[in-house]
Amino acid sequence: MNVLDSEKMAGILESRGFLSSSGDDADIFIFNTCSVREKAEEKLFSYLGRLKKKKKNRKFLIGVCGCVAQVEGERIFKRAPYVDFVLGTRRFFKIGDVVRYLIENYGEKILDVEMDGSPYPPEIKEIKRNEKFREYVLIMEGCNNFCSYCIVPFTRGRERSRKLENVLGEVKRYIKDGAVEINLLGQNVNSYRDPDGYDFVDLLSEVSKIEGLKRIRFTTSHPKDFNEELLSVMVANKNICKHIHLPPQSGSNKILKLMNRKYTREEYLEKIDMIKSTGIEFGISGDFIVGFPTESREDYEKTLSLLEEVKYSSIFSFKYSPRPNTLAWRKFQDMDEKIKLERLMNLQDFQKKIQLELNKSKVGKVYEVLVESISKKGDTLMGRTEQNYIVNFSGDRDLIGNIVKVKITDFSAQTLKGELFSM
Ligand code: 5AD
Ligand code: SF4
Repeated sequence: MNVLDSEKMAGILESRGFLSSSGDDADIFIFNTCSVREKAEEKLFSYLGRLKKKKKNRKFLIGVCGCVAQVEGERIFKRAPYVDFVLGTRRFFKIGDVVRYLIENYGEKILDVEMDGSPYPPEIKEIKRNEKFREYVLIMEGCNNFCSYCIVPFTRGRERSRKLENVLGEVKRYIKDGAVEINLLGQNVNSYRDPDGYDFVDLLSEVSKIEGLKRIRFTTSHPKDFNEELLSVMVANKNICKHIHLPPQSGSNKILKLMNRKYTREEYLEKIDMIKSTGIEFGISGDFIVGFPTESREDYEKTLSLLEEVKYSSIFSFKYSPRPNTLAWRKFQDMDEKIKLERLMNLQDFQKKIQLELNKSKVGKVYEVLVESISKKGDTLMGRTEQNYIVNFSGDRDLIGNIVKVKITDFSAQTLKGELFSM
């Protein structure tokens, strides 16, 4: 979501004639920030610190946008008085006007973190994206779930959805421009609700009918809302990728309750069984928090056993980070950092072994892969299967943006290796 917001800001600035640059000599520096964990927030202030000195010798603008801007507001000016503007998560679309004003009135400051309550997200057409084959499309934003550890409901506000026709219109425009894959985005896609009553399943079926659309993904689906109806639509439509990100956070019922996740381990596993019983190869991924307050060794081991049972194709895992104003922050003492770190490392090791086993079983199989880029090492192409498995293989860079068949020949815990397959 932050990447998409940044692309919108860049698009708006470009349409106003401000060329974006990534160099140190830029005239405007904009930080689009995340505050989901404390570490991300601290990064902002360390970057800002580096710019402070430069501002003594040269005139340029510094802006802070996104979630840290939303929750910290005025405090950012107090801590970093050389910042020129602070725009909240629902105000970033004003960036063109703000920058224009501050160029003309250098030295003034602008703060706007209004949590605009209008029923729809603004329709922003100026989006600067370098690749044309893969597009993100916002369908809803905000969150009403209030998981006890999470700052998102405070930074992104209450849920609101775009109109179905606007989403479909945007997707059609992208297809016309050559898009192969569309990723429907929302903090909680299942809470999508068009004012005429269409829900996420309706939206997904409508998007999948769009002619020429080869791949559809969506992020993120809350386990409490994932149901048979959604799964059926995924199964029935070939162009909906067989990947589901279903973040459990913990495998212990005690912790899930304290987290206010609104499902039990057993209910979560029922949903996983439902996916597995389709007999179709799905990639299942998840997010995990270790060291949530009061998490005992036993609770933690339940998370490990969940990993073992589900066999995720990939996971994201984090140490619990207390976030201001959340219920967990108000109610609990944070646990010892050393225990959190030890649990995180151990969980990641445990998952690595599971992934190695899973990836081993894929050798010899042929997958359709959307080629995304040159791999990090620079010598091979990197792409993804519909299950979201990462595959590296040799080939011409002209293949980027195309779907090709790749036969898996080797593996590591994180990636599959393969070769182009032709019949
Ligand atoms: N501490 C650690 N991880 C968190 N996440 C959200 N809030 C916190 C927090 N306070 C993780 C969750 C979520 C992902 C986006 O970030 O796992 O799914
Ligand atoms: Fe945060 Fe929970 Fe909302 Fe996800 S569902 S954004 S974890 S409050």
